[in-house]
Amino acid sequence: MDLKLAGKAVMVTGAGSGIGQTIACAFAREGAVVAVNDIAEDLVGKTVALIEQAGGHAFAALCDIGSLDAVQAMVASLAARDMRPDILVNNAAVLLASAPFLDTRPEDCEREIRVILHGTMNCTRALLPGMVDRHYGKIVNIVSDAARAGQEREVNYSAAKGGVLAFTKSIAREVGRHNINVNAVSPAATNTPLRQGLLRKLADRIGEAAVQEREEKIRRAYPLKRIGEPDDVSNAVLFLCSDAARHVTGQVLGVNGGYTMIG
Ligand SMILES: NC(=O)c1ccc[n+]([C@@H]2O[C@H](COP(=O)([O-])OP(=O)(O)OC[C@H]3O[C@@H](n4cnc5c(N)ncnc54)[C@H](O)[C@@H]3O)[C@@H](O)[C@H]2O)c1
Repeated sequence: MDLKLAGKAVMVTGAGSGIGQTIACAFAREGAVVAVNDIAEDLVGKTVALIEQAGGHAFAALCDIGSLDAVQAMVASLAARDMRPDILVNNAAVLLASAPFLDTRPEDCEREIRVILHGTMNCTRALLPGMVDRHYGKIVNIVSDAARAGQEREVNYSAAKGGVLAFTKSIAREVGRHNINVNAVSPAATNTPLRQGLLRKLADRIGEAAVQEREEKIRRAYPLKRIGEPDDVSNAVLFLCSDAARHVTGQVLGVNGGYTMIG
């Protein structure tokens, strides 16, 4: 199916790594122009280079999305280069501690909520006026089955993602009249640097053999018997950002091997 994304201007947050990088590259392959946001300059550079080496078009969009001022400045600098995104993928997130709630530090909790929830709201606040003016827009927020099913040792992260879920539905109701679709994609376990980092920390705590046993249990718990890959997520995101999904808004699409099935 031709998703007709060629020429569209897209911003992907947290596009320096993992799922965000895969989403940014997938849009570029479809002929979209991509603003590659990340907080880490070297990671932004890597994704921009990947896109350009493949013949695509990308803009570096370095900033900490947890700061509204920084996001507004980034969007203004894109506009100065004639780049006005009609498509926004709120993907950036941090998971600072995988520990029981009472063992987590309040400052880590604050940071997770700032990046995940406020970051999503900041980028939406900055780009939505342009979408309203142009009477066209697509927003996809990457949430997590940790929020939908609940996840021990990831309580702060899950709570922040739950906020993004509620934000998705509420803002979808507000902006539908402006021809703007807002949806969420909810991955479960997906092979990315974030997940590999968690597994390494877990191996330090419980040993490599126990981690492998746990991985096998996760695979068995998923009806499709596999851990997700970043392109499983990017395929869903591209569909929701296309006019093939023009009648879909306020929805949460699980890309999770069937881990949660919520009607
Ligand atoms: N990997 C999984 O198993 C999994 C499961 C469910 C949901 N998710 C979600 O998918 C998304 C991508 O996860 P991933 O596994 O690719 O993570 P990742 O850690 O590989 O990538 C996240 C990127 O976000 C960037 N980032 C962090 N803070 C930022 C900030 N303040 N401003 C801008 N960029 C910032 C990081 O530098 C990094 O490049 C996240 O929203 C995550 O919660 C991942």
